[in-house]
Amino acid sequence: MRVRLTQSAEHAADLVAHEILTQLRAKPNLVLGLATGSTPIGVYTRLVDAYQSGAASFAKVHTFNLDEYLDLPASHHQSYRFFMQRHLFDAIDIPAAHIHFPPSEGQNLLRRCQQYETEIEDLGGLDIQLLGIGSNGHIGFNEPTSSLRSRTRIKTLTPKTRQDNARFYASDETQPTLAATMGIGTILGARTILLQAFGQKKAEAIRATVEGPVSSYCPASALQLHEDVTLFLDSEAASRLSMQDYYLQTQMHEEQLRREDRM
Ligand code: PGA
Repeated sequence: MRVRLTQSAEHAADLVAHEILTQLRAKPNLVLGLATGSTPIGVYTRLVDAYQSGAASFAKVHTFNLDEYLDLPASHHQSYRFFMQRHLFDAIDIPAAHIHFPPSEGQNLLRRCQQYETEIEDLGGLDIQLLGIGSNGHIGFNEPTSSLRSRTRIKTLTPKTRQDNARFYASDETQPTLAATMGIGTILGARTILLQAFGQKKAEAIRATVEGPVSSYCPASALQLHEDVTLFLDSEAASRLSMQDYYLQTQMHEEQLRREDRM
């Protein structure tokens, strides 16, 4: 697990967008796993800028979003599909047929969740999975006690998650309690995982993710089992880590070896 202590959320977004754009240049048909919430917005802004300045094309990219609320149509302003259209898809050249979301409406949800896994596999798997983290350690909507090998399925949201997301809802709006989400096993299948976390509210979840035991009670701790995961943290999110000096030193060494072209 690589821990990058960044100067700010803006700096983290620069680094993450740079990584995605570098991989996109090498592989124009990149398969991207995407996240919603306030955390990834800076990255999406940078991807849109790269497209609009002619520096990148998403014409061959396929995207798979992590999760979606049950029974919210794509046109609903609280749906994650709506969020993604607004922050990314409407502003880039990705074909509509290349945009994938876990099934969240209609019948046969479990079978269609399995199909979602097959669609990912058929495209060769996720090259990059972008992640945020919940204050309870969830990734996607894999809430505490989610099986560490879980695949795409329907989950009930915890009161904590609903409370954290209540800020996005007007007082007369009903907050969903169910969502379709990629599983932890699905996420661990991505070749590269980039997780961002900002603010004090995430500090305890980040401590448990990096320095705690692997435990389904902190779903993000499963990332310790992945071979190419980087956490981009601002100082507040990193504030409860006990080995900050070591992470900085590791980062310095890695940069030095890269400069010397030895990595
Ligand atoms: P946030 O949500 O980016 O809005 O903080 C992250 C999450 O719940 O996974």
